[in-house]
Amino acid sequence: MAKKITNNVSWVGKTDWELTMFHGNELSTSRGSSYNAYLLRGSHKTVLIDTVWGPYDREFVERLRAELPLDQIDAIIMQHNETDHSGALPELMREIPDTPIYCTKKGEAILRGHYHQDWNYINVKTGDRLELGDGETLTFIEAPMCHWPDTMFSYYDGCGGILFSNDAFGQHYASESLFNDEVPQCEMLAEAKKYYANILAPFNPMVSRKVKEVVAMNLPLSLICPSHGVIWRENPGQIIEKYLEWSDAYAQNQVTIVYDTMWNSTRKMAEAIARGIRSCAPDVTVKVLNAAKEDKNDILTEVFSSKALLVGSPTINNGFSYAIAGFMEMLKGLKLKGKKAAAFGSYGWSGEASKQLGTLLSEAGFELVDEGVRALWVPDAETLASCEEYGKSFISKI
Ligand code: FEO
Repeated sequence: MAKKITNNVSWVGKTDWELTMFHGNELSTSRGSSYNAYLLRGSHKTVLIDTVWGPYDREFVERLRAELPLDQIDAIIMQHNETDHSGALPELMREIPDTPIYCTKKGEAILRGHYHQDWNYINVKTGDRLELGDGETLTFIEAPMCHWPDTMFSYYDGCGGILFSNDAFGQHYASESLFNDEVPQCEMLAEAKKYYANILAPFNPMVSRKVKEVVAMNLPLSLICPSHGVIWRENPGQIIEKYLEWSDAYAQNQVTIVYDTMWNSTRKMAEAIARGIRSCAPDVTVKVLNAAKEDKNDILTEVFSSKALLVGSPTINNGFSYAIAGFMEMLKGLKLKGKKAAAFGSYGWSGEASKQLGTLLSEAGFELVDEGVRALWVPDAETLASCEEYGKSFISKI
């Protein structure tokens, strides 16, 4: 069912309560998600902003049809054409094949690449406007790499100003409530941060520039309507502030220790290092996370929030563990800057894992503070004491 946002703007998206993974298996969505689409009725033009993911295409089109005769949709605004937003477009275009689709030039290329259709594309750039009637307009703002090259925002100057921001400012967060002030703040904000850390952090410089550009436009803003999760109604500026903070070498007073273990030796080392850090820096939050057991995206969110990272793995077959290998690959992709790191691990004979991990941490953009610490076989009390000392030394260099 459509949900009213203002007297002329309705939410016509899909809440996906059962979604547990996104981007294949790359991103966990433990609180579901939503694919937000919006219907904006101006006095002369009615526009649809984005669609929903393909599996819900018929449901989406039928819900729209219940809202208005489909041929009354004058334009479709495709702000970003990843399949979670464009998936229902082919079903809709079968009904209204000549309707113009407003998108960036890159957006057209992506739509053609996905659906191989010669639809009525109208390319738009920053500052281009669509007149809606009675002097109201929708203004387009290109936002490349927030988070795909085709992304754009759309600003509606009615209703006190509404920014349709697509993926930016979103959360993978299913809710029957539409607005940020109607949901538990703690869990919603945690999802907004997880979303940023895992989806937008690789593009920090572009996100920072674009958010500052939008702030400089000084637009009246009563709502920010993203394409996932709840709408920012209460103090919409709060998520803009958060994005400025998150996109600028974000770090809390936190150290995260990520490890894997075969027979608990590397786990004992991780815990001893954590004790060492806490013993001389009690104000530092220390998180100790097993890469093979914890959610990978929650781990990455903790690293995103940290000023330093320690990665530990036992040496296995002249390398490191499967879970740590996957974690390191994902970590590299986030392109985090300004964080320090070191590696550690237990070994039986060759013992090269921690050196290899140190190299990978440097390549991932971390500043390696030292060569880390290793333990031969099972660490005894003396070895664990030296790991604690290592923790003290590590935090003194952060
Ligand atoms: Fe929500 Fe980049 O799609």
